[in-house]
Amino acid sequence: MLLRPATLDDLPLLKRWDVDPDVRAATGIDDDDDWGWEDSFALDGYDTFLAEVDGRPLGVVQILDPHRDATKYWGAMPPGFRALDLWIGAPEDRGRGLGAKMLRLAVERCFADPTVHTVLLDPLESNDRACRFYEREGFRIVGPRRFGEDDCLVYRLDRPTQSGGVEWP
Ligand SMILES: CC(C)(COP(=O)(O)OP(=O)(O)OC[C@H]1O[C@@H](n2cnc3c(N)ncnc32)[C@H](O)[C@@H]1OP(=O)(O)O)[C@@H](O)C(=O)NCCC(=O)NCCS
Repeated sequence: MLLRPATLDDLPLLKRWDVDPDVRAATGIDDDDDWGWEDSFALDGYDTFLAEVDGRPLGVVQILDPHRDATKYWGAMPPGFRALDLWIGAPEDRGRGLGAKMLRLAVERCFADPTVHTVLLDPLESNDRACRFYEREGFRIVGPRRFGEDDCLVYRLDRPTQSGGVEWP
């Protein structure tokens, strides 16, 4: 598996995945809406990658720098954090260990920047399976938080060499 930058050519595929019921349930995307790919491609602080196996794209990872994010989704944040959104597009590709690989590659990419000390996730509180998956992958709960109309659980993973982690929030 590799992560490669998404391009405008990937929009049809990304929008197709957006209508998958599990993706809709996990992201809170409304029926007549999508993830807002065009906007996020253009926004400072958002990097979008497709996960590919043997050249076949099967999932998407968005890495956000909350400090640079003009939308201030995470509020006013100091540098050194990254936040992830990820999903596997098709049901038949889920539950086969591909998400774990994708998450590990995304985390590796975040920590490749030596200034990054913490990776954040904000699954919907109702998404039990995703929460269990993140916990199994070593993320620990920070606590519940409401983002807009979404009740989420915030998780963090600290850079492995760090003792104790940076205090937040
Ligand atoms: C969450 C997700 C990325 C995990 O990737 P994956 O390849 O399915 O996960 P793995 O095979 O590495 O691990 C399996 C675990 O994934 C979790 N999981 C979450 N949603 C799942 C789904 N729809 N199908 C299968 N497993 C899912 C479960 O914890 C599962 O373990 P379990 O069978 O003990 O419940 C992927 O399932 C997915 O994209 N789900 C739909 C959208 C979503 O929930 N995205 C997360 C948004 S925060």
